[in-house]
Amino acid sequence: MNNKLNIGLIGLGTVGQGVVKVLSSYDDIEIVSCAVKDLNKKRDVEVKNLTTDVYSIVNNPEIDVIVEVAGGVWVLEPLLTAIKNKKHIVTANKELLARHGAQLFDCARENNAAILFEASVAGGIPIIQAIKTSLKANNFDCVAGILNGTTNYILTKMEEDNLSYDDCLKNAQKLGYAETDPTNDVEGYDAMYKIALLANIVFNKRIDASKIYCEGITKISPLDIKSADELGYKIKLIAQAKKVENSTDLDIRVHPMLVWKSQAISEIKNATNAVLLKGFPVDKLMFVGPGAGEFPTTSSVVGDILQIKSEITNSDAILPMQTCHHHDYANQISVDETVNSYYLRIEAQNKLGIIGQIGLACQSFGVNLSSILQKGINDNGSATIIVVSEDCREKDINSMIETLEKTGDIKVVNKIRVM
Ligand SMILES: NC(=O)c1ccc[n+]([C@@H]2O[C@H](COP(=O)([O-])OP(=O)(O)OC[C@H]3O[C@@H](n4cnc5c(N)ncnc54)[C@H](OP(=O)(O)O)[C@@H]3O)[C@@H](O)[C@H]2O)c1
Repeated sequence: MNNKLNIGLIGLGTVGQGVVKVLSSYDDIEIVSCAVKDLNKKRDVEVKNLTTDVYSIVNNPEIDVIVEVAGGVWVLEPLLTAIKNKKHIVTANKELLARHGAQLFDCARENNAAILFEASVAGGIPIIQAIKTSLKANNFDCVAGILNGTTNYILTKMEEDNLSYDDCLKNAQKLGYAETDPTNDVEGYDAMYKIALLANIVFNKRIDASKIYCEGITKISPLDIKSADELGYKIKLIAQAKKVENSTDLDIRVHPMLVWKSQAISEIKNATNAVLLKGFPVDKLMFVGPGAGEFPTTSSVVGDILQIKSEITNSDAILPMQTCHHHDYANQISVDETVNSYYLRIEAQNKLGIIGQIGLACQSFGVNLSSILQKGINDNGSATIIVVSEDCREKDINSMIETLEKTGDIKVVNKIRVM
């Protein structure tokens, strides 16, 4: 190729328009054509050759790189066509890569094409390239983080303003932090796709996203946040992937967690994202920054475009570090086999012997308690009891809860794992 890079853009929404604005200052990069759904929509930017025919872009021989910022899994076939036409791909699409990455990366390898996806995890934080290149020397034990800005915003507002989940969700929707249908964010699916991608490059294994345990924030109440606060914790939606001790199996999950206030990640507020890594020889790292938004996300997309440009301008090929080399799937353990410390919010009848019943059930299943908190009796005559356990197996705490609830006097209203 000559020194000019020709781009085919798919999507001209929040991120696509940011990409057009930032690329307008590059004389040697041209957006040749752009696919959208609605040609008549009003936009902040002008792009030549706007089309609804995505195949006219992926089959255009003039185009070197496809920048896909449309979202959704419908782009799988067009992108496979682009790769077979020897085009490199830059994408921000975590769902597509988490669900169909194996097919896309196999196709890319066969066609000597690169798929760069920095924007797909944690928006503006340059975590993918850091893991693939500067941190390549490391053997990682764990990657974890706050990977969804919407849920972190809701949890921050619940804590700071003492509001219910529903009220905070409505505010987040008004301010544009949450979509009209917030399911993907609040049920944890968005974070699940992102941790699948991170685990994939951190552990050099393919990850089956459908096997990742995923629980969102919809059951968190102001009472949980207040109780956690009294015990010295904040509540965050944490996505994590870690090696199981003395094994190559992986424990990957997304769920709310109590985080000690002394841990730096507890300070991550509002829509900010954070990624923690622990490995040898580097030890512990934390990356913090904007996890979404037009310009932070554009920073990552354009960074990938420039990376491809600099490499293919010099050698007509992509550095091996940028391509995917692993084929094996990780063995992912089920959540039942995981080991955690747990916070339980218990509602009990105000009867003699309730604490004794909790103690007996804990003893039967080998669950040791580290804290227990009860403040008087509620107006309706029930008692709210908060307990925090030491580390135990998920299936044991679940059996213990089942036994407690069979008494009819005790209900475990919420179970939250502790980080
Ligand atoms: N927004 C962020 O902060 C952010 C952060 C990180 C990653 N991402 C990822 O970036 C991608 C884009 O996000 P976004 O927020 O920019 O989305 P968006 O504002 O909804 O824009 C999507 C764009 O794709 C176009 N599109 C949708 N379906 C299409 C189809 N069938 N054919 C042609 N064009 C189609 C839309 O066309 P119309 O404009 O005509 O409707 C629109 O221009 C997603 O994968 C998202 O997960 C976004």
